[in-house]
Amino acid sequence: MSARGKLVTAVVAGAALTLVAGVPGALAQGPWVAPPEAKSLKNPVKGVGDAKKVVETNCVTCHGASGHGDGPAAAALPPPKPANWTSVAVQKQTDGEIFWKISNGRGAMPPWKHLPEKERWEVVNYIRSLKGK
Ligand code: HEC
Repeated sequence: MSARGKLVTAVVAGAALTLVAGVPGALAQGPWVAPPEAKSLKNPVKGVGDAKKVVETNCVTCHGASGHGDGPAAAALPPPKPANWTSVAVQKQTDGEIFWKISNGRGAMPPWKHLPEKERWEVVNYIRSLKGK
């Protein structure tokens, strides 16, 4: 292949990768891992504020009233199912990782960037309060 041909191939492959990465849900198989920079994000907020209300309005249809991932909409969704917030799999993540996932979403999990940052951190604190429940 000519040098120009190689360049074109590289550019097309790069564009395809960018496209896949840019479409939420395009890679919604397998474990969901937040990017490394999310891990060390510091939680600047103490307490849960109105998080219970925020969660009741926005999350319980999928994640269930007690956060076990068993909301009324969960049955109709294909895997991966809404996460069980009380599980070790969720609780072992850092606040930053949970915050990042809430903000960005994946597949059937919507992104919640439109909620004020403070509210998103309060929701993280609320999810923490459900640990082992
Ligand atoms: C329409 C259904 C739906 C709604 C509404 C929803 N989620 Fe989710 N959520 C999901 C699904 C499905 C997953 C699993 C996504 C995956 O693994 O690809 C998920 C995963 C998560 C995770 C990641 C857990 C993990 O695997 O690490 C968190 C945290 C979360 N949701 C929080 C929230 C919060 C907070 C709200 C409300 C502000 C919310 N979700 C609203 C469907 C929903």
